[in-house]
Amino acid sequence: MSDDTYSKGLEGIIAAETKIARIDGESGKLYYRGYSIQDLAQASDYEETSYLLLHERLPSATELQTFRDSMRGSRALAPEIVSMIRNFPPDGAPMELLQSVLSYLSGYVAHKIQHSATCNCRSTLHQVAQLPTVLAAYQRCREGAAPVEPRTDLSHGANFLYMLRGEAPDAYEGEIMDRCFVLHAEHGFNASTFTARVVASTHSTCYCSISAAIGALYGALHGGANARVLDMFDEIGGIDRIEEWLDQAFATKRKVMGMGHRVYKAKDPRAVIMEADLTELCERKKDDHLQVFIRTFEKAFRRRMETKGKPIYPNVDFLSGAVYSMLGIPRDLFTPIFAVARSVGWLAHILEQRQDNRIYRPRGLYQGPEPRDYTPVADR
Ligand code: COA
Repeated sequence: MSDDTYSKGLEGIIAAETKIARIDGESGKLYYRGYSIQDLAQASDYEETSYLLLHERLPSATELQTFRDSMRGSRALAPEIVSMIRNFPPDGAPMELLQSVLSYLSGYVAHKIQHSATCNCRSTLHQVAQLPTVLAAYQRCREGAAPVEPRTDLSHGANFLYMLRGEAPDAYEGEIMDRCFVLHAEHGFNASTFTARVVASTHSTCYCSISAAIGALYGALHGGANARVLDMFDEIGGIDRIEEWLDQAFATKRKVMGMGHRVYKAKDPRAVIMEADLTELCERKKDDHLQVFIRTFEKAFRRRMETKGKPIYPNVDFLSGAVYSMLGIPRDLFTPIFAVARSVGWLAHILEQRQDNRIYRPRGLYQGPEPRDYTPVADR
């Protein structure tokens, strides 16, 4: 292999074959196992989508019921896990808690640690089912409230809001939360998914693989943009300051959070769906200030980019923070929610990696000194 195969950040390099997500960046389309994200967002839910991702096809009614029962039956946490969450430093970062709990969980579930074919994570589903409980318990503990036991009669999204708030959400809020999980469930070979596959390729456990993926998602260049969009709105301060703020941002070549995407060169299809959910939330809550702000901001940003001949569109993070905020979710839980939703995508990739495994071992392009003689310390 010649050195000209080097591509910084592995950009453009095909690292493995996959049958999970297809992203058509030019026309702004996303498919999970061949089904469009629009169809799944409209007609499916997180549990059915999880089955699809893990089993490569949609379930029959009986299969879906069995899967739902199994996933809902796995939601509760062992008391030792709750105690670990309670003892987590209040000023610690929730992503760090999530990462640590994930490894800890493996000791408290009926999980076969053996690798590859003998791993039973596809049927126990604990990582996927328990992460919302972990996050909600963390939020309750830091508010000084008791963690709320999960319910098995609510969807994945509605149950998360229930555990967070201590009371069941309205049906439409539960649906919107569940849809947010569907929209974030999978997105191809990004940094965190690739991390999960690299760890899985060593025949490590799925717990360790997902824990590593959470570490990768934590970084500001990956999962953190949704919260930073709202930080940016706070910094702007008001709708009448948008134009002036953007002028300043463009003059200093500052990257505008929530805009642009490495893969999508059209509007991110998930952003389109979230926009409709934001509209519904604003209408029902009779508070459209965030929506009006977002529309004005998007128009002003895109006008500037079009003048420069570079059409750049909003990505999913531009909208998700606003939706979570309208659902009353604290800002520092936005990225952990992304991890909670993506856990099933990571698991699907871990299983796919194992089906046709080869340990990842790229080369570095050596740029260091030529071989040289060692000098004893006394002679240096
Ligand atoms: N704000 C201002 N300018 C932007 C921009 C943004 N958010 N996104 C892209 N551009 C500019 C680029 O700087 C580039 O300009 P140039 O040709 O003068 O260098 C041009 O638009 C084309 O950029 P493109 O190649 O399409 O994007 P990229 O692949 O370089 O960057 C991101 C993609 C995601 C890294 C980038 O859009 C970004 O940092 N966005 C903000 C962070 C964010 O929302 N991340 C979440 C992604 S899901």
